[in-house]
Amino acid sequence: MSAIDTSGIPTLAAPRRPPGRLTFRQFLRVVRENTLATYRPEDAGEDFIARRLLWRRTFIVNEPGAIRHILLDNADNYTKSEITRRILEPGLGRGLLTSEGETWRRHRRIMAPAFDPRTVAGYAPIMTGIAENLLAKWDALPEQSAVDVAAAMMHTTLHIISRAMFSSDSDEIVDVVERDVGEYQTNVRPSLFDLLHAPQWLSRLFSTRHAAGILDEFGSSVDALLTARGHEPDAEPKDLLARLIAARDSETGGGMTAQEVRNQVVTIFMAGHETTAQALTWTWYLLSQHPAAEAKLHAELTNVLAGRTPRHDDLADLDYTRMAIEESMRLYPPAHTLAREPIGADEVLGHRIPPGATVLIVPWLLHRKPSLWERPDRFEPERFSRERAAARPRFAYIPFGAGPRICIGAAFAMEEAMLILATIAQRYRLRLNPGHPVEPQGLITLRPRYGLQMILQRR
Ligand code: HEM
Repeated sequence: MSAIDTSGIPTLAAPRRPPGRLTFRQFLRVVRENTLATYRPEDAGEDFIARRLLWRRTFIVNEPGAIRHILLDNADNYTKSEITRRILEPGLGRGLLTSEGETWRRHRRIMAPAFDPRTVAGYAPIMTGIAENLLAKWDALPEQSAVDVAAAMMHTTLHIISRAMFSSDSDEIVDVVERDVGEYQTNVRPSLFDLLHAPQWLSRLFSTRHAAGILDEFGSSVDALLTARGHEPDAEPKDLLARLIAARDSETGGGMTAQEVRNQVVTIFMAGHETTAQALTWTWYLLSQHPAAEAKLHAELTNVLAGRTPRHDDLADLDYTRMAIEESMRLYPPAHTLAREPIGADEVLGHRIPPGATVLIVPWLLHRKPSLWERPDRFEPERFSRERAAARPRFAYIPFGAGPRICIGAAFAMEEAMLILATIAQRYRLRLNPGHPVEPQGLITLRPRYGLQMILQRR
């Protein structure tokens, strides 16, 4: 719950956790319920934390130089962790997010052009068009209506990725995914067996809830759309699906098989909407708690846009809009934890990391580290001015990850988040519904545990 302390500075929503070090039983409960609550607030100040769960060892690395070593300089020695695969693959299949080695390299090369900033700029009209659909819906509600902004942002970004991927033939898929994704995140949580890397059959034997099946309807809808596209291959040459089907490897000239395209489509759908929705949701929350920052945003929108719909070319002038989103992803990074496993032993900050250990890089902690950020618990978008950002170590701020496995959708996400924020903030001010509890909950992504009930105020 948010509150104002005696200095007038709002206290930001934080995870609730039992004080001090967690017992084994508490840890097992908390890791499933809210990963963020396994970290103590003072962990943000550490460079390196060693944890042990029975015989499994986990190392949290929280220092920019060491993070650079793992994600970039020595990236070939690391794979995505077993636990990441166990949680994501039942739903996503083997797409870019979880594949490794030569397969990953080839797919990344083939897909990169579909996500470059020039291609992404072409999706701007879809993004603002769908944000305006939301405004039309809100305009039809009585003044001061309460809405769940988390759900509204999810619906909006899902609609956008669906249109960008399939053009207009896909709107029913939005309902299917909306139902399935929430269920997937709440059902698919790591068990003790997963955390210990016990064989998956053992883990399944003792798990009462299964991932398999939750996303079947979504998979079938994607298959139906792909089959339809197979019959008229040139119908919509500009959408993301058409680009993936037509894409060729710059080194070998080869493309992707139908099954590979299907897996990538499912992965991009899932990776490509929820994270951006969370980034926007937390931005609305933070703006509602900081009227002075909100006023600066409004002033910039009036100056640059004067009421009209934003375009891609406006983004370069919407500096404060960008800074507000970047600061929001510092405090509430949608991808709150990245996990890796070393193939061979490594040495990090003087500590030996054995092969197969779990290495966690936790933007949630790194982005609050007092030696990197002045007043880390305050929302201050100005720290993302170009000069101040350039003066910080590159690996101090990693909402999109870093190194070769950096988010392929980063340009898409920033384009989308800025255009949606600019479109909506010109027309509405959102205020937290008094009494609505706000607690960040780390499941696969960082979401507000109880949604985000806000009051709509027309500007
Ligand atoms: C604010 C929004 C987003 C955030 C915070 C975010 C964050 C991330 C992060 C941290 C990673 C790297 C994970 C790791 O290293 O373990 C990643 C990878 C990925 N993201 Fe995003 N993402 C966002 C939006 C998107 C969008 C819009 C798309 C697609 C349209 C997308 C598709 C992907 C894919 C396919 C990967 C895997 C890349 C690879 O391994 O080569 N993401 N994302």
